[in-house]
Amino acid sequence: MKSTKQKKITKDFFNQVSGEWFGRTYDPAGKYLTFPGNKIRMEVALEEISRLGIKGRALDIGCGEGQLVIELLKKGINAEGIDIAEDMIKGAKDNLKKSKVRKNPDEVFRSIDLDRFKVSKQYDIATGLGLLEYLDTDKEFFSMVAPVVHNGGYVLAECRNKFFNLFSANQYTVKLKNELPELIKELNDSIKYSPVPPKKIPMTQLAVSSGISKFLSVAVKNREWLSNSVPHYTNYPPKMVRRQHTPQEIEASAKKYGFKLEYVVYWHPHPYPPVYGKNFPRIFNKISHLMNPLGRTPLGAWMCSSFIAVFRKR
Ligand SMILES: C[S@@+](CC[C@H](N)C(=O)[O-])C[C@H]1O[C@@H](n2cnc3c(N)ncnc32)[C@H](O)[C@@H]1O
Repeated sequence: MKSTKQKKITKDFFNQVSGEWFGRTYDPAGKYLTFPGNKIRMEVALEEISRLGIKGRALDIGCGEGQLVIELLKKGINAEGIDIAEDMIKGAKDNLKKSKVRKNPDEVFRSIDLDRFKVSKQYDIATGLGLLEYLDTDKEFFSMVAPVVHNGGYVLAECRNKFFNLFSANQYTVKLKNELPELIKELNDSIKYSPVPPKKIPMTQLAVSSGISKFLSVAVKNREWLSNSVPHYTNYPPKMVRRQHTPQEIEASAKKYGFKLEYVVYWHPHPYPPVYGKNFPRIFNKISHLMNPLGRTPLGAWMCSSFIAVFRKR
């Protein structure tokens, strides 16, 4: 497939931000000045991989600086990662060298466009976290993973959640216009995709609320939590497209390549519409993290800005 404009923008952006990416999205200091999105997403993915009982081979596509691959290797899963951005792969190799895992970084990580990947063996699972939003089409991803995963194997595809526009009350909501009635219908029909049924929502909410109360009783005594001095990070280029999906849309794309959608786990719940996050970002981000268990319930569909779709190859 020929290199598109969007692909070049994506590659250049990720090469540019490789130095700040870990601090920006994994929040190693645990300060919550930014939302530790990639760290939480990785935790959600690891939890699902463990639930599915996957032990063999894994391929992480768009692996960034290799955090998921290294965690999987630590668990004894034979994981590899590929990424289009050379600087991300350099970071991944360095991270592997610094870890306790004894593996040759050149055999684990490779800088390559997913379109150019040659299948030499099959995997028990393929993952793409924070990847589909940057691709021109879903076809690019599913046509690549179809021969990579063996029958009965799994794919975890993470997407930005289109339903979230109904909750976010921002420019994306305004842009919905004509799509609104269909989106609300799809939202109502999406309950079936959540692994935790609606009747368990009150119980989950109670546990989440108790965690939030405990956190707030500590936070009010420490003014640092009120800080809103968010560090400056490189902005996304204005022309960069970040696509959104509903579970129904990604289900339809995957079906053409022999994948069945098993369930979706929403993640990154917002305690209030995002606009409130600007005033007390640390508290907002921490509460978002504490609310994550709601993502396995149907409530996640409109409160969470992303989801991980779990597919099985039939
Ligand atoms: C948002 S980052 C996520 C990185 C990592 N998965 C994580 O969660 O930390 C998306 C990654 O996908 C990579 N990527 C985008 N398009 C790609 C393509 N066509 N082939 C391979 N990697 C790609 C980018 O270079 C970038 O490192």
